[in-house]
Amino acid sequence: MMKVTERLKAEHGVLLMLLDHLEERLKSGADRCVLQATAATVAAAEEKHALFEERLLFRMVAASLGPESPVVSSLLHEHDRIAQLGRRILSGDFDEGTVGAYLAGLREHIERETHRFFPLIDELVSEEKLVAVSNWDAEHVAWEAMSNRQRFEEWLSRS
Ligand SMILES: [Fe+2]
Ligand SMILES: [Fe+2]
Repeated sequence: MMKVTERLKAEHGVLLMLLDHLEERLKSGADRCVLQATAATVAAAEEKHALFEERLLFRMVAASLGPESPVVSSLLHEHDRIAQLGRRILSGDFDEGTVGAYLAGLREHIERETHRFFPLIDELVSEEKLVAVSNWDAEHVAWEAMSNRQRFEEWLSRS
């Protein structure tokens, strides 16, 4: 059985491939509308990925280290910054530098999560729990449980 951190690392691999594709298009001087459409695909995948991380992993860490944990707030800040750059590109208010900043920002974020944040999660949370939540967003019932915040917090706080 796969731990949620392993699943998200595999998603990072796909996101990095999409970023390579976007960078190739940027370097080859692709049209703005091509850059915009390519960035839109990356941003849609990253948005779902980040939401899953926030709803599950960030809350697991907050439950363990406290809601004010700087680890969580700095990662949330990075998610906001990346989403903001993505929205700027989608709005049409962008240049090559904006796309470059999006590429660099998301790659650095992925690096930090993969090598610092996920190992911390693996230390703080039991393997059993990490396996149990790995497919939660694919299971309808689980999303309902997650939207019932109190029940979800209760579940999270059980070790
Ligand atoms: Fe993230
Ligand atoms: Fe991530």
